[in-house]
Amino acid sequence: MAEGRLAGRIALVTGASSGIGEAIALGFAREGADVIVHYRTRQREAEEIAEEIRGMGQRARTVQADIVDAGQVAQMLTEAATFGPLSIVVCNAGTHRRVPFLEIDEAMWDWVLDTDLKGPFLVGQGAARQMVQNGTGGSIIATSSVSAHSAQPELVHYQAAKAGVAMLVRGMALELAPHGIRVNAIAPGLVETNLTTRIFRTPDVLAGRVSRIPLGRAGQPADMVGAAIFLASDESAWTTGTTITVDGGFSVT
Ligand SMILES: NC(=O)c1ccc[n+]([C@@H]2O[C@H](COP(=O)([O-])OP(=O)(O)OC[C@H]3O[C@@H](n4cnc5c(N)ncnc54)[C@H](OP(=O)(O)O)[C@@H]3O)[C@@H](O)[C@H]2O)c1
Repeated sequence: MAEGRLAGRIALVTGASSGIGEAIALGFAREGADVIVHYRTRQREAEEIAEEIRGMGQRARTVQADIVDAGQVAQMLTEAATFGPLSIVVCNAGTHRRVPFLEIDEAMWDWVLDTDLKGPFLVGQGAARQMVQNGTGGSIIATSSVSAHSAQPELVHYQAAKAGVAMLVRGMALELAPHGIRVNAIAPGLVETNLTTRIFRTPDVLAGRVSRIPLGRAGQPADMVGAAIFLASDESAWTTGTTITVDGGFSVT
């Protein structure tokens, strides 16, 4: 029998083929969870992460879906359910591209809003329906962003989506509490991943960003894992509808 704060739990992590999702998937496994590793395009990376989890003695499998497609999300959740009853779901997959506000066209708006707001809605609702049916309760966690409450240039579409996630989480928390399902979010600050490569490859831009972080460095995906484990585990049994900001202090300035 696995030991750890998540022993005996089954977790689905979307966008787990890289970055923050990968770190959370591996962190959950280290705490004893069996993990379903979701990817969209990076199958090889997802399979390697699943293999690493099996190497820790936990069960793991991969699932593929585009989270903006309701049919694919439903199929993914059906496949996930064959692994056993889900008790932890992290709606982490997300994206953005920086575009000046005056140049955001409808396609760009739809792409970012669909991925970053409709996607968590579809995955969160589908997972919640399974949890209600199973009667086992659970923890749903969304990856929001400091962009939900702090404006930066060229991210209006992303900021609107992530602010939407904050209210999505609160509304879901209210309606799902009677079913023993808690819903929370993590709002990362600047974290080094594929999403932020351009910042990390441009030293003066990176230095400017880091100068606004009181703890004096950018985040790594591993910095998100502690909050995710807390929200997934019984340690947060009386915590729902909230967002935990993990940003090195960026938001206090
Ligand atoms: N990095 C930061 O500074 C930062 C800050 C605040 C919030 N966040 C949030 O953190 C989350 C994870 O991002 P990350 O920084 O770890 O970037 P990442 O390494 O690029 O990971 C993004 C993940 O999302 C998946 N994805 C993207 N679009 C998808 C779609 N339509 N359907 C299914 N999966 C999709 C990708 O899958 P494939 O690669 O397999 O296609 C990938 O696994 C996102 O929600 C992001 O908004 C990041």
